[in-house]
Amino acid sequence: MVELEKLEQFARKNFIPVMLDDTKQLLFNTVKALQPKRILEVGTAIGYSGIVMLTASPSAHLNTIEMLETSAQMARKNFADAGVADRATIFVGDAREIVTLLTGTYDFIFLDGPKGQYDAFLPYLTEVLEVGGTLVCDNVLYKGLVENVPEDKRHKHITVARNMRKFLDEITTTSRYSTVLHRIGDGVTVSTKLF
Ligand SMILES: C[S@@+](CC[C@H](N)C(=O)[O-])C[C@H]1O[C@@H](n2cnc3c(N)ncnc32)[C@H](O)[C@@H]1O
Repeated sequence: MVELEKLEQFARKNFIPVMLDDTKQLLFNTVKALQPKRILEVGTAIGYSGIVMLTASPSAHLNTIEMLETSAQMARKNFADAGVADRATIFVGDAREIVTLLTGTYDFIFLDGPKGQYDAFLPYLTEVLEVGGTLVCDNVLYKGLVENVPEDKRHKHITVARNMRKFLDEITTTSRYSTVLHRIGDGVTVSTKLF
């Protein structure tokens, strides 16, 4: 069984983004409580969060999307080492395309992919999420910039901050979701689809 701590250390040493520790704990606890069966993830990286979710819900299957082949390869190996390879399918490609082609339904979605695209992904993810299903989104406060969007138009994160702000406004106000914003890590929303 792969040790998550070692995987995390490897990721941090090699500048591979994986979720922060309190985010991991929230994700684990949420999945453990809900025991979803069909999980979709956007942003596999090396499979760290995937292993967390599959460990928390032992009868779940994970479909996970990753753009980088090198990361997907590492994820494949890590899923195998963790003994969850038969419950994980990696789709290698651009999530901006793949989310528009999704079919079937999911009872849990973890959104942790390109930070400037959450708003664009939301309608597609809502379409495939079952009523009563849960959508968890990481980095919704994006380095503190979402609640303090820089005024300098040349700021390198301004577009992502603006897009994420739009997403956060939508997910916290739409009547389709009941959402809690957790001010941990880089900001995490946990939303239940109501209809
Ligand atoms: C924050 S990391 C995911 C971390 C992972 N969920 C974890 O906690 O272990 C974001 C990942 O999304 C991938 N990514 C970025 N843009 C993407 C896109 N347009 N389509 C698919 N994957 C993308 C990156 O290559 C990166 O691996």
